[in-house]
Amino acid sequence: MSEEKIYPVPAQFDALIDKQQYEKMYADSIRDPDAFWGEQARQRLDWIKPFSKVSNYSFAKDDLHIRWFEDGTLNVSYNCLDLHLEERGDQTAIIWEGDDPDNSLHISYRELHEKVSRLGNALREQGVKKGDRVTLYLPMIPEAAVAMLACARIGAVHSVVFGGFSPGALADRIVDCEASIVITADQSVRGGKKVPLKANVDKALAQERVTTVEKVIVVKRTGGDIEWTDGRDLWYEEITASADSDCPPEEMNAEDPLFILYTSGSTGKPKGVLHTSAGYLLYAGMTHELVFDYRPGEVYWCTADVGWVTGHSYIVYGPLANAATTVMFEGVPSYPDNSRFWEIIDKHQVNSFYTAPTAIRALMRDGDEPVKKCSRKSLRVLGSVGEPINPQAWEWYYHVVGDGRCPIVDTWWQTETGGTLITPLPGATDLKPGSATRPFFGVQPALVDTDGNELDGANNGALVLKGSWPGQMRTIFGDHERFFQTYFATFENVYFTGDGARRDEDGYYWITGRMDDVLNVSGHRMGTAEIESALVAHPSVAEAAVVGFPHDLKGQGIYAYVTLSAGKEPSDALLGELSQWVRTEIGPIAKPDFIQFAPGLPKTRSGKIMRRILRKIAENDYGNLGDTSTLAEPGVVNDLIDRRMNR
Ligand code: PRX
Repeated sequence: MSEEKIYPVPAQFDALIDKQQYEKMYADSIRDPDAFWGEQARQRLDWIKPFSKVSNYSFAKDDLHIRWFEDGTLNVSYNCLDLHLEERGDQTAIIWEGDDPDNSLHISYRELHEKVSRLGNALREQGVKKGDRVTLYLPMIPEAAVAMLACARIGAVHSVVFGGFSPGALADRIVDCEASIVITADQSVRGGKKVPLKANVDKALAQERVTTVEKVIVVKRTGGDIEWTDGRDLWYEEITASADSDCPPEEMNAEDPLFILYTSGSTGKPKGVLHTSAGYLLYAGMTHELVFDYRPGEVYWCTADVGWVTGHSYIVYGPLANAATTVMFEGVPSYPDNSRFWEIIDKHQVNSFYTAPTAIRALMRDGDEPVKKCSRKSLRVLGSVGEPINPQAWEWYYHVVGDGRCPIVDTWWQTETGGTLITPLPGATDLKPGSATRPFFGVQPALVDTDGNELDGANNGALVLKGSWPGQMRTIFGDHERFFQTYFATFENVYFTGDGARRDEDGYYWITGRMDDVLNVSGHRMGTAEIESALVAHPSVAEAAVVGFPHDLKGQGIYAYVTLSAGKEPSDALLGELSQWVRTEIGPIAKPDFIQFAPGLPKTRSGKIMRRILRKIAENDYGNLGDTSTLAEPGVVNDLIDRRMNR
């Protein structure tokens, strides 16, 4: 073992998978993937028509396709609900914890099944058919899970849009997938503050380019005032109350789409990541069970929002496929005070807890006392996701939150991968703070150099995956060519993750971060190009370049360089206005931490902005700017440095 700090599997930890089992199962899964996944799919999923073929894929340009279990049929909502009714109908499926600590709900599998069936029928009554797209723009309330499952039940494809996105960002996502229905709520509540979701939907739909939406279904969350469009808007409570509670699930092919989820890439236009039915559910369910060592009857809590992939796979589909009790939290970790997470853990006797490093860092700043005043005795496994966790935060999470008893699973994955790919298993993996450790079953990570040559042993390179796994995305909705270009064009015959990584002498992976123009701000993924196009849409801005810089709490912060249009003068008021502008154009998560006025940007003679230099200046690292000889106007750099230092 290397000299890094190592936390061995606790001797008393009695896990589903131990070290020997991991090694054997991993070897089996790589030696004969079809035999391995075929067996898992037969065991874990309930099929209407069994499959005869396991995998069928090619990453080649002219033949890019990814299919798993392609001649089998099933229904995802049946697998997440009906299948559990006989044995676990009265068990809690969802514990909902409201923003207000006095507000919580337990929903049993039987109740969830009924809610999903009613909404499924109500959607059918509105003319929604198999394959139609439904956009969900909802708070963290049980209806979000109900709506996802109702779509799955009738074969509609859901596209969940994070409730923090602006009307413009929502409109982009509705237009791209041509949704016929939007399901929203009057308002959402987070940290005591209300967000006008329905008003945002009204604004999005008022844009001329949005032409496909026929109905808006509105959940009454707060009872706050909203505008109403007769003939278009419907109350969720009314249409579900009058709908039949018997809703036969649609027979779906394994490869029929389950959902689209938009994520950021290196261009301004978000990508509609498409996941299909059987492979996705199998992968989400299996990883949920084994990564969290989930046992029947346990309470599991993932703090993500259903607007992100973590919420899809590890609040809704994975846990429900396993008949788990999953916690859904509407609020924020700091409300009403910074003990909230730990109070919820005690209140609902949570056994596994899954959150993001940014939350851990923010809570760590408040010291140990808010944690220690809660018992946390129920905890068994802790998880981390979304960005690299710095060893200091890892140690605090382990020693203070977990009292040194609970393994931490640092799970590396992406919207595109459907579920976690590189991760410890609590009973099988000795932990190193900051490392996502080793691959899950069937996953073959590799490191390559810039020419695509595979690197051996302890090394540093671009992280790629050889071969497919059932949870892999199948295409970018409506743009298969872009799917190829984004993930399979850089290196031949492998999936390129966009991340760089180091592998140590024990075969452990250490994710070093994105290699492309994608930022990871508080675990939220954002394209620099999206923020740049928002900035240049402002009448005073001629040009903008956005880069990331290291940020103590957020992991990465957003640094924007802005060149003003002719005749516009820099001012503090304009800085504030531009910041607010980005917030309104995209959403609060995209608001720049710093904006610097830049009369000129460093460009090559062919006009390409040299971001490497902008990143260094944003980081205050002027000694190391690298080669600037290809710049069209080298003087620009000194001017930017002066302004940075004098800010
Ligand atoms: O850079 C990696 C980082 O988040 C990216 C994926 O973002 P997204 O699609 O929004 O999915 C986030 C939730 C799975 C990755 O390319 N990332 C995610 N998890 C980790 C991570 N970086 C380091 N360690 C992780 N555990």
